Amino acid sequence: MSHFPENRPRRLRRTATLRRMVRETALAVDNLVYPIFVRHGEGVREPISAMPDQFRYSPDTAVTCCRQAADLGIPAVILFGIPENKDASGSEGWSSQSVVCRAVENIKRALPDLCVITDVCLCEYTEHGHCGVVRSPDGDIGEIDNDATLPLLAREALSHVRAGADMVAPSDMMDGRVGAIRRALDANGFSHIPIMAYSAKHASAFYGPFREAAGSAPRFGDRRSYQMDPANRREALREMRLDCEEGADILMVKPALPCLDLIRDAAGRFDLPIAAYNVSGEYAMIKAAAERGWLDEKAAAMESLLAIRRAGATLILTYWAIQAARWLRENC
Ligand code: PBG
Repeated sequence: MSHFPENRPRRLRRTATLRRMVRETALAVDNLVYPIFVRHGEGVREPISAMPDQFRYSPDTAVTCCRQAADLGIPAVILFGIPENKDASGSEGWSSQSVVCRAVENIKRALPDLCVITDVCLCEYTEHGHCGVVRSPDGDIGEIDNDATLPLLAREALSHVRAGADMVAPSDMMDGRVGAIRRALDANGFSHIPIMAYSAKHASAFYGPFREAAGSAPRFGDRRSYQMDPANRREALREMRLDCEEGADILMVKPALPCLDLIRDAAGRFDLPIAAYNVSGEYAMIKAAAERGWLDEKAAAMESLLAIRRAGATLILTYWAIQAARWLRENC
């Protein structure tokens, strides 16, 4: 028995109306960004096995998918490219003929108000699957050449923006890439285009299904020399501060649920909008459990997204975007 009978939190949870009145966080469709994989071809809608209900689209069917998102009120999509051919320097990534450029042109022509963001990285395009070019003087297994990668990333970003992208999102984790991209955009008349930086990006096991979707698993080694150690919080804050200084407009934390503390820290410390990437593994886990009847997909997904909002993210990149937009409508 409480000594303070007036101090009863449950009073405010007693009815649905009271719960609505005291709710501190809400998820809105405006918070959602839908990630889409684009590949060459026409009329393609190829299922991704480790990510049920997600597909690889050709530039024409990507428009149909984006229209569905836009019709539900989703403000933005982020595109990932799957090239025809991979090579040592990821040349399709920075070519003006890339599949991402084709898709951006098509989507912007059909849906001018949809914000089209592009992921900027080399790992989908390199034959070794690393996010930068590899220096291997003796033909041995090499090291990632950070500084030689920067001009290629800048070129990739510029090609996307020339095709009509509204925002670029570098995910490679090379040091100095936000500054390099900012300078390239500014020098070419695109000083108005914002950069959403994957700033605090851990070397995480939760990207597995994405790598299957994009065929981008590294052929040797791993990404721990450039992605962050999940053990480190202060390092994440330092990465975010550096990206701010280099000119980032939005800071991203990734993955989302294993990093709620960093989302909270970022929201408290920086005055830029914070994005969080609810990544492929976070999606696949709940999908797999739901398929077995072990979890209620809608409840688990919406609780995850709400928790990411509560931690302080304004933008949430999530494969549930379309479904979540529908669920939000049902609840209205
Ligand atoms: C590219 C990139 C990755 C993701 C987003 N951009 C893969 C990686 O870093 O290995 C992962 C997104 C997801 O898992 O949903 N570097």
